[in-house]
Amino acid sequence: MSASNKDLTSKINNLSITSDSDKLVTKDGRLSQKSYDKEALKQRLQILGRNPEQNILNVIRQACTDTLSRDDFGKTLQSIKANFVQRDYEGIFTAEARNLQVYSAAYVPGRALCYFEIFCQSQLLKLLARRTCIYAIGSGSGSELVSFAAAMTRVPAERQRIKLIMQDIGEWAKVLETFESASRQSWKLTEEQFSCQYLQGDILDPTKRDERAQRIADADLITFMFVMNELFVKKAAAMEMVQSLVTNMKKGAHLLVVESAGSFSHLKVGNKTYMVHMLLDAIKDLQSVISDDARWYRHPDNVRYPLDVQNMRYFIRLYKKI
Ligand SMILES: C[S@@+](CC[C@H](N)C(=O)[O-])C[C@H]1O[C@@H](n2cnc3c(N)ncnc32)[C@H](O)[C@@H]1O
Repeated sequence: MSASNKDLTSKINNLSITSDSDKLVTKDGRLSQKSYDKEALKQRLQILGRNPEQNILNVIRQACTDTLSRDDFGKTLQSIKANFVQRDYEGIFTAEARNLQVYSAAYVPGRALCYFEIFCQSQLLKLLARRTCIYAIGSGSGSELVSFAAAMTRVPAERQRIKLIMQDIGEWAKVLETFESASRQSWKLTEEQFSCQYLQGDILDPTKRDERAQRIADADLITFMFVMNELFVKKAAAMEMVQSLVTNMKKGAHLLVVESAGSFSHLKVGNKTYMVHMLLDAIKDLQSVISDDARWYRHPDNVRYPLDVQNMRYFIRLYKKI
């Protein structure tokens, strides 16, 4: 049995869905058996099979089949890697859609496995069992879409209404369409359960502040997965966005920030160096729910994908707006 399956029972037992409209919990914090079909959940837990990580990689591979077999795949990937070394993020993410397909085929596998593990933590999993609007910033490459969709199969379907709004600067619409249809098909997710919307646009655009504020206000969960550092290249605009988060998030909404635990996450302010999470930890309206400065995600040894699947070392913060 894989780690994801082994931990599942305890995770589900720890779910506590406290909203009055979602009476899925008993007094001792367990899922109320009356409120969901136990047999249906048992079957649902089989969807990812005995090796959920391999199942997720298979879906990514299926979505990226055409890209992985392109003649220019290797050359394009090399140029993306070279841009990373130069920290030329704009060069990578505002490139033409064909290059973005290569980025996704190479980088989504490791990220999606890591995010799947993150989203299967009880504090996040409970949000996936009910009506939840997720605003995922910088999520164009598709890692969040695939991992949210996979994690959705780990909870009862009855009240699941996930609206995923993804915003990114790049031309990711095609990439996301293929990931969405592969995930939907493989993991049996209906439009009613899982609706996806892509918005192409700069989250720091000063002319779109009101729209951003409205999306923040509408969201139950806002995610920044390996995005904050890039945004802080423009410090003043990024600080203003953080201010907008604090002002506009509704009470009880969650903010998830995951970022490299290494030096890529260092921010220089004057002569001093800070990590992005130090700034967020200092905000009194944000209560920390999950906090870890360095975690490793290591994928199981027995998974297969046409390219190396990367392990990841990251910091994580889940905050609740109070
Ligand atoms: C390192 S990638 C991470 C992608 C994805 N979240 C993942 O974990 O696989 C950073 C993403 O942030 C996006 N991004 C960078 N600056 C942005 C901005 N100002 N507004 C919206 N998206 C941005 C990039 O286009 C890119 O897709």
